[in-house]
Amino acid sequence: MSAHGDPIPMSARRAGPLSGVAEVPGDKSISHRALILGALSVGETRITGLLEGQDVLDTARAMRAFGADVAHLGPGEWVVNGVGVGGFAEPADVIDCGNSGTGVRLIMGAMATSPVTATFTGDASLRARPMGRVTDPLALFGAAAYGRAGGRLPMTVVGAAEPVPVRYVVPVPSAQVKSAVLLAGLNAPGETVVIEREATRDHTERMLAGFGAAVHVEQTGEGRVIVLTGQPELRPQTIAVPRDPSSAAFPVCAALIVEGSDVLVPGIGLNPTRAGLFTTLIEMGADLSYENLREEGGEPVADLRARFSPDMKGIEVPAERAPSMIDEYPVLAVVAAFAEGVTRMPGIRELRVKESDRIAAMAAGLRACGATVEEGEDWMAVTGMGPGGLPGGATCATHLDHRIAMSFLCAGMAAQRPVTIDDVGPIATSFPVFEPLMEGLGAAFTRAGA
Ligand code: S3P
Repeated sequence: MSAHGDPIPMSARRAGPLSGVAEVPGDKSISHRALILGALSVGETRITGLLEGQDVLDTARAMRAFGADVAHLGPGEWVVNGVGVGGFAEPADVIDCGNSGTGVRLIMGAMATSPVTATFTGDASLRARPMGRVTDPLALFGAAAYGRAGGRLPMTVVGAAEPVPVRYVVPVPSAQVKSAVLLAGLNAPGETVVIEREATRDHTERMLAGFGAAVHVEQTGEGRVIVLTGQPELRPQTIAVPRDPSSAAFPVCAALIVEGSDVLVPGIGLNPTRAGLFTTLIEMGADLSYENLREEGGEPVADLRARFSPDMKGIEVPAERAPSMIDEYPVLAVVAAFAEGVTRMPGIRELRVKESDRIAAMAAGLRACGATVEEGEDWMAVTGMGPGGLPGGATCATHLDHRIAMSFLCAGMAAQRPVTIDDVGPIATSFPVFEPLMEGLGAAFTRAGA
């Protein structure tokens, strides 16, 4: 069902080439962190380019509930007057994080070492996702969590009145877990140490340093070791959020598979912990280039140029690359269906606990469209049918998952017959302008009943 009411099915069909400039919205990961760290500093944090998708709006609302003053000045422009580390007030009501795993997990971390109690919930997708991966390390700080069976929301977290710092080895490759522990460590006296065996997106570490926290990162035999000194006074910042590479993935991939396309996607953040999809596409033979490579706000940024690529070949995506493209496997699976040969994607177990089980959702939808897909617990393999080769003509279930919805609409733009998704609603969580933006490039969408 749509986050805002009844499900709204939509179809995408083959039309002319995609062309033009695609200005995708701000980075979702960075937007959540800017609001939360703004709320944890004293004084005025100014943010431009904030993603105004539902996930981030839910985090803004939550920060108000914890006592921060969060004001919307204009498109993408926000001001946060924070309460300082340890200054969170107790929310008067349940915190509803909607569809956002990042929102709920980071906020749980941020409040877990303050003497407040908060109850969290979310939509049906979020209520099915595991929270134990966050509440287990938060318990080491002295916080307690009471939720449904299997560590599911709704869940009440009782923050530690006298938190102690922790040393924690993150057992799964998850930036959300790492970030929750670091945010909790902010209000613990002494040094909190987080170790990740596989590097995941590092926006929290970068932004903590920007806000003035003492955070040191070292690569050791054990993995990436992050040491944070607790109870800093965070200094408010001015943050320009780069455009989201995970959103850029959709116009880029659509351009690669729709005949004759040529699309420019400017100003995309290319932090190496996020750019794995683009490396993979280039290895497959995509006509994809980085133009005007530059640095903005401490992050590498480029304009991406994607053109129709009829010669793409299936490859084995290195398992160790998975964390740097974890959200992009659904749309990669679509591109793989239009390449020649088999694309194997090992090491993707984490896809099973995203907004939906993304391996199952992609396998089911692509098979319904006529592709051959094999899957295992932590892998998927798609046999490509070449340019224009996917039959399409199916309705695909999106399971309240924005990336599944957008991926199948991209498939429909290049398949022989239209592809329909059962609900367009979830797209608003991360990419509210997806529909007009893609139509502006030449995509042909039809909403049910239209
Ligand atoms: C995110 C981390 C990833 C990613 C999610 C955003 C973040 O989740 O899938 O969309 O902003 O930290 P995991 O930490 O579960 O891998």
